[in-house]
Amino acid sequence: MNQSQTYPLQFRHFTQKWISVRCSSSSHTHLLLFILLLLFASGFASDQDWDGVVITQSDFQALKSLKHEFTDSRGHLRSWNDTGYGACSGGWVGIKCLKGQVIALQLPWRGLSGRISEKIGQLQALRKLSLHDNALTGVFPNSLGSLPNLRGLYLFNNRISGSIPPSISGCPVLRTLNLNNNKLTGTIPSSLANSTKLYRINLSFNSISGSIPVSLFGSFSLTFIALQHNNLSGSVPDSWGGNETEKKINQLQILTLDHNQLSGTIPATIGNISSITQFDFSNNNFTGKIPTSLSNLPNLTHFNVSYNNLSGSVPYLLSERFDPSSFVGNSQLCGYITSTPCPSPPPQTLPSPPPSSSNHRDRKLNTKDIILIAAGALLVILLLLCSVLLCCLIRKKAAKRNNGKKTGQAVSGRGEKGVPVVGGEIESGGETGGKLVHFDGPFVFTADDLLCATAEIMGKSTYGTVYKATLEDGNHVAVKRLREKVAKGRKEFEIEVVELGKIRHPNILALRAYYLGPKGEKLLVFDYMPNGSLATFLHARGPDTLVTWPTRMNIAMGIARGLRCLHNRENIVHGNLTSSNIVLDKQTNPKITDVGLSRLMTSAANTNVIATAGTLGYRAPELSKLKNATTKSDVYSLGVIMLELLTGKSASEATDGVDLPSWVASIVKEDWTNEVFDVELMRDASNSGDGLLQTLKLALHCVDPSPAARPEAQQVLRQLEEIRPEMVARPGDDSNKAAA
Ligand SMILES: *[C@@H]1O[C@H](CO)[C@@H](O)[C@H](O)[C@H]1NC(C)=O
Ligand SMILES: *[C@@H]1O[C@H](CO)[C@@H](O)[C@H](O)[C@H]1NC(C)=O
Ligand SMILES: *[C@@H]1O[C@H](CO)[C@@H](O)[C@H](O)[C@H]1NC(C)=O
Ligand SMILES: *[C@@H]1O[C@H](CO)[C@@H](O)[C@H](O)[C@H]1NC(C)=O
Ligand SMILES: *[C@@H]1O[C@H](CO)[C@@H](O)[C@H](O)[C@H]1NC(C)=O
Ligand SMILES: *[C@@H]1O[C@H](CO)[C@@H](O)[C@H](O)[C@H]1NC(C)=O
Ligand SMILES: *[C@@H]1O[C@H](CO)[C@@H](O)[C@H](O)[C@H]1NC(C)=O
Ligand SMILES: *[C@@H]1O[C@H](CO)[C@@H](O)[C@H](O)[C@H]1NC(C)=O
Ligand SMILES: *[C@@H]1O[C@H](CO)[C@@H](O)[C@H](O)[C@H]1NC(C)=O
Ligand SMILES: *[C@@H]1O[C@H](CO)[C@@H](O)[C@H](O)[C@H]1NC(C)=O
Repeated sequence: MNQSQTYPLQFRHFTQKWISVRCSSSSHTHLLLFILLLLFASGFASDQDWDGVVITQSDFQALKSLKHEFTDSRGHLRSWNDTGYGACSGGWVGIKCLKGQVIALQLPWRGLSGRISEKIGQLQALRKLSLHDNALTGVFPNSLGSLPNLRGLYLFNNRISGSIPPSISGCPVLRTLNLNNNKLTGTIPSSLANSTKLYRINLSFNSISGSIPVSLFGSFSLTFIALQHNNLSGSVPDSWGGNETEKKINQLQILTLDHNQLSGTIPATIGNISSITQFDFSNNNFTGKIPTSLSNLPNLTHFNVSYNNLSGSVPYLLSERFDPSSFVGNSQLCGYITSTPCPSPPPQTLPSPPPSSSNHRDRKLNTKDIILIAAGALLVILLLLCSVLLCCLIRKKAAKRNNGKKTGQAVSGRGEKGVPVVGGEIESGGETGGKLVHFDGPFVFTADDLLCATAEIMGKSTYGTVYKATLEDGNHVAVKRLREKVAKGRKEFEIEVVELGKIRHPNILALRAYYLGPKGEKLLVFDYMPNGSLATFLHARGPDTLVTWPTRMNIAMGIARGLRCLHNRENIVHGNLTSSNIVLDKQTNPKITDVGLSRLMTSAANTNVIATAGTLGYRAPELSKLKNATTKSDVYSLGVIMLELLTGKSASEATDGVDLPSWVASIVKEDWTNEVFDVELMRDASNSGDGLLQTLKLALHCVDPSPAARPEAQQVLRQLEEIRPEMVARPGDDSNKAAA
């Protein structure tokens, strides 16, 4: 016993000796000696805890009682004999002491049954109690609450009953409480939060009932909360991270509350806990919507809200990131793959635009809106020319005055906006007597603002002419004026356009409003994208402007993502996907335009568009026979765009008189594959040929002459993600925030 105290001294002695030796010589033998010493020393160092002092009488009595109440059928506790002499010097199995007091009692997997004696409360120095994976029964010992130094309590996988006593607050430094898979009942004492060091709590697989104490969620220290498979009820409190003044956020990583009877809504504030990785609220009775704030959690890897009573649509980024099985079992939840599509808005009463005041009740004012109001209030001074659109010079002055007034109205009306207004916000078309319908979006403008905006032509297509319109607040919007003869009648048009106004995806250009003029003019208002179309970006740039491979890859993936959303979520076939119909935002993220426009057009117009696409080189071969575009013909067009990105050649550019897919195929066949790629890409050595080749293979797969052989947009995306795995999730996109 005394000997054990000398070990640390020897260690120190040897260490010093080694240091002096090492300084005078660098022989390898000494190094070896050092390693051996370290091995010894670490063995001895752990012995250091066995301080060799005789166990205190109180702790000895406590251990005796414990042994007495355990049923030790395998005889593991034989060493716990009556003398107590060796208890604190390593003689007793599972005991660790400091100065004669037991600091750790560890007997997992020993086949112990019986119960834990209340005398355990006498082990006042106890820091760790680990009796997991035994067959212990009896009630949870109340006296555990009198252990001021207890840091870890591991009793999982037993059959302990009773409840966790409120006296557990007597363990102020408790860090881990792991009681999962027992037979505990009763409630979770709110005093548990008095253990301010608690960071891991696992009470799963018990029969604990009652509600989750609010105080628990206020605890900043908690990193793991596992309460699944209990009988908890009530709602999940909204008070994450304690009180408002402190503005601290939990470091919570795991929150599993599944298989309980919890109800109420999922608090949006959980979206503040950016550290969270696992979130399971499944198999409860939660109602309401899935908060959009949850889609911004960067490290979330497991998300499950299945089998509740949730409603509304799944935030898009969540439905992108997680399996449908995370959402099933909520009959009123929509908007994820395999779910029913989100219900249509109530059919609009088309003829007379109701005053916007009728919508006031349902809306709430938030900060963003206040800013919008402020911005709106600035919309007082008016604009110059009523260019291509409808204003005429003679009316200009009157319009100016009028607008001053109208803007004021619009401000109070739209001030209560913010929540995406399903079906749009209708406003009368001002002077002209038309009708302007807003969907959600950052813009505040009236029909007169729009009609009097300066506009410059950006392009023309079969569907109509696109203008860049500058609103009086300096904001730009893209306005598409549809050709009158090709669009559907007013009523059919409105039914379709309202659907299109609801589509929100980072890679689809958002439709923000539409305008119907008194004489049947139809204008569509979109976000304006400063970088123009992909066709211009790629094919009409200066010789010094490089487009790197990661940029191209990002564009390809974005288009695939947008197309997947169209096909799988919106059930829309694009029908006219070309590099001119892809626009790029400031960060060169692609957005698909002209989405669903075919729905606004007569079928004759659509046939015409398909024919044009053929001349441009994007039309799938089968479309010469079929009249209707399909998801597979869209994938063909996607393949052509990918080939454009790879070769730097435009699809319409005559390449030895054949279309781009045939040209690429012919070169690949000749085994000159590297000739295919844009020289610019070949110059950059960091483009490992592998990624280029794999993308080329995928693109050729997409332009396979047989539609059946082509992959789905979803598969294209998955394969692109495999090629560039680091580019997978790009949450936090602008337009998505606008939708949120
Ligand atoms: C009690 O156990 C210790 C350690 O195992 C042993 O050294 C001692 O001889 C035992 N005493 C009796 C009476 O069995
Ligand atoms: C928890 O701590 C608060 C103050 O820190 C104290 O007022 C309260 O009595 C404690 N609760 C229990 C059950 O010990
Ligand atoms: C909690 O216990 C359950 C059941 O044994 C286990 O699956 C889970 O990993 C534990 N969770 C934590 C955070 O310790
Ligand atoms: C769960 O709690 C409800 C009451 O809240 C009770 O009726 C039911 O028996 C409990 N179930 C279990 C398994 O404890
Ligand atoms: C919030 O916490 C701060 C700092 O711990 C404390 O001073 C303040 O009193 C608390 N406020 C409330 C309302 O509990
Ligand atoms: C937490 O999130 C809510 C809404 O999601 C927000 O209003 C609140 O300000 C956030 N709190 C903190 C402390 O960031
Ligand atoms: C997310 O995970 C990464 C890697 O594990 C970590 O470095 C980062 O701190 C985590 N973010 C948050 C907000 O916890
Ligand atoms: C779920 O909540 C609804 C209404 O809030 C209630 O009628 C129903 O009984 C609850 N179901 C369960 C299993 O608790
Ligand atoms: C779901 O909630 C609705 C009301 O929100 C309620 O009528 C219905 O009973 C609930 N369904 C279940 C299974 O709890
Ligand atoms: C979500 O939970 C349900 C029910 O427990 C389960 O069937 C499903 O596989 C889980 N999904 C995921 C992605 O964990």
